[in-house]
Amino acid sequence: MIITFANEQKQVKIPSKAKKLLLAGLKTVGKLHKLSEQTVVDVTLVDDKEIHKLNKEYRKVDRPTDVLSFALDEGEEAEPAVTGGPEEHLLGGIVISAETAERQGEEYGHGLNRELTYLAVHGCLHLLGYDHMQEEDKLKMRAEEEKVLAALNLSESDLASTELLKAAQEARKKAYAPYSGFKVGAAVLTKNGKIFSGCNIENASYGMTICAERCAIFNAVAAGEQDLEALCLTAETEDPVTPCGACRQVMSEFGLQTVIMADKKGHLVTKSLSELLPDGFKRKDLTKAKK
Ligand code: THU
Repeated sequence: MIITFANEQKQVKIPSKAKKLLLAGLKTVGKLHKLSEQTVVDVTLVDDKEIHKLNKEYRKVDRPTDVLSFALDEGEEAEPAVTGGPEEHLLGGIVISAETAERQGEEYGHGLNRELTYLAVHGCLHLLGYDHMQEEDKLKMRAEEEKVLAALNLSESDLASTELLKAAQEARKKAYAPYSGFKVGAAVLTKNGKIFSGCNIENASYGMTICAERCAIFNAVAAGEQDLEALCLTAETEDPVTPCGACRQVMSEFGLQTVIMADKKGHLVTKSLSELLPDGFKRKDLTKAKK
């Protein structure tokens, strides 16, 4: 796959990492779709003013947008080569507004680099015939996007894991473990997208000790967050540290589904809570007993 890249705007500084990721994203689409080496895709970064003009001209939509795709190969007869040598085959062009990408990256909290890559991948999938008009097609397209971003470690869940791990590692520094010497850090992601952290806190009366996971969960609940999504825990262990049974039970109380376990190097193993705690005791079991 041949990708031409032109930055035709001056509003947003494009880090070299952003360009690298964007190109890697398109190459991954090419690989997954077995596009030939000769397939050419043109990518152009513009500003909001320019994409507004194009959006109005080609789609009759009078406002800026994030990405536009211009497919040249609509699947009829093979297009004659437009770029480069006679054997090259131009699939189409992708125009991205860097200004909108920057705004959206901030809004979604994943930054410019990830957003530019996502938009390029999205645009390229349009060139390959993917669409999101019907719910069914939209799901197919989203799954395809997610596949590509996951291959680049840029999927939503990867980003959440990285953030949670950072928070857990930070929290671990505050662990109070003078008796065991085993310091643990945890961070929990709420359904509202907030992160709360905690560490283990020991006591001379050993049984009073609280684990890092429960400390993080109780911090979230005390702040009014009762719907939890994921938890990451970390310790200085060779293999990713697993949560104790009591903490698993507390996770289940607040609907937490994903547990991310890290070793001392930050390698992650992710498991669902139902894997870690099959048949856990549930609130509904209590109401059954009341009858
Ligand atoms: N600990 C945790 O913080 N989380 C766990 O899941 C297991 C154990 C802490 C409790 C105690 O301070 C130390 O590790 C040793 O058991």
